[in-house]
Amino acid sequence: MPELLPSETVAPAGSKRLPRVPRWRSLLRSFALAKNPLPVLDAVLAYHGDTVELYIGGVEKSILTRDPGLIQHVLQKNHRNYAKSKFTQGFSRYIGHGLLTNEGPDWLRQRRLIQPGFHRQRVAGLTGLMQEITAESLAPLAAQAVASGGETTVEVHELMTRLTFRIIARSVFSTNFPEAELDRLAGLITEIQAFFVRSIRQPYLKPWFRLRGQFAYHDALALELRTLLGGLIAQRQQDNAQPNAPAPPDDLLQMLLDVRYEDTGEPMSRDRLIDESLILLVAGHETSANALTWLTYLLAHHLGQAREIQAESAAVLAGRAPAFEDLPRLPRALHAVQEAMRLYPPAWMVDRVALADDEFQGLRIPAGTLFSLYFHGLHHDAKYWDAPGEFRPARFGTGQARPVPANAYVPFGGGPRLCIGMQFALTEMHLVALELLRQFDIEWVPGQPAVTMQPLITLRPKHDFRVRLQVR
Ligand code: HEM
Repeated sequence: MPELLPSETVAPAGSKRLPRVPRWRSLLRSFALAKNPLPVLDAVLAYHGDTVELYIGGVEKSILTRDPGLIQHVLQKNHRNYAKSKFTQGFSRYIGHGLLTNEGPDWLRQRRLIQPGFHRQRVAGLTGLMQEITAESLAPLAAQAVASGGETTVEVHELMTRLTFRIIARSVFSTNFPEAELDRLAGLITEIQAFFVRSIRQPYLKPWFRLRGQFAYHDALALELRTLLGGLIAQRQQDNAQPNAPAPPDDLLQMLLDVRYEDTGEPMSRDRLIDESLILLVAGHETSANALTWLTYLLAHHLGQAREIQAESAAVLAGRAPAFEDLPRLPRALHAVQEAMRLYPPAWMVDRVALADDEFQGLRIPAGTLFSLYFHGLHHDAKYWDAPGEFRPARFGTGQARPVPANAYVPFGGGPRLCIGMQFALTEMHLVALELLRQFDIEWVPGQPAVTMQPLITLRPKHDFRVRLQVR
């Protein structure tokens, strides 16, 4: 049993008792927590109940919860009292102050401005691009398979990371980047994120990082990232300003350039444009890549589910690629995507801090309380899910004996800060799943080590794995 388990209880007079893991126990387990928090946190909650107080990295006192009511209270019902914590704020050092890291009235102003760019119809307009990039990314694999007698193998996380990065980068910037520049952009984002996560999980290493110049090094990477994006934005502005310039591309950057603040009629400043476009790349890349990676992993182990998706698309599409309008008639692939995100929620944990004193069902929440909203724990809680460890896409179908409880399924968060890219991501993943299964049968390559989870900012596999693709 993990050493985090035995606890004290804290109970300010007249209020509900909350189990507490003392600081020294948290510290003792901070290495295991840094290595892989999921088993440690699951064991803590299995022992104590849905909500517990503990110390992140042995340093920061935080309330960890998988209680859907408390999660909804924080994200939605009393959302005004909860801001992103200093952990997310710290990320803005590297990725700026776009929607994900912004707060308060300034966040609301930006969100209102940007929201229309993500409406269903705008996303529908991007499906052609999503399909084109998916087809381009799968074509070499199909060619490779045909050349070697009908099958090939592929490293799934690498494939999905490249694919989703190309989709989001071209949805924002249209431009066909040179491959090297795209790879550099993706590499910079990954390196910065990995460092940021380490500095949070192991805060006691900060003096060491400082000594080794790690902060300065990553600041320089962040500057390189901003310079790269600034160059692309300036190029677009120049192109648009040319006399007789052709109509600009209908992409997300153009949407950011075209919008005007209601009160001033002004466009966004150059710095804002960099912040917001960078946030879209960061938030819209790894999340979808990880969800698709886990989906492929699951399908490779559940051939019957894959066959059902293939049979449904064959009946509806008769071999052609799906259009946006076809998607509602192809629910099986979407249910598989939804179930993959239940089992492996890319945003496995979300943070908040209480701005003022609050109360939830007798639990006193003093100002400054940090929250770790544990979506992964909630998505596996047997109180809300039958056989929570099993891959059962049909639970998302209509007419189920036990329908999905709305507030127990939160892969895109909730309340006013619900993921702005939800429709975009669902469409993208739905299309990729359909196209992958239209072209190939997927099988697990035997003999590989067990796949384990690595929860960084998003939940990814610790090591990449291969599947066999057989041309259909
Ligand atoms: C499977 C894919 C995705 C998942 C699971 C996901 C999940 C989330 C979650 C949980 C949040 C809320 C975080 C919080 O409350 O602290 C969020 C916010 C956000 N997401 Fe996504 N996301 C995905 C894809 C995307 C895509 C494709 C984009 C962009 C095209 C995007 C852009 C954003 C932005 C900008 C925010 C901040 C919104 C705000 O605070 O106003 N996401 N996402």
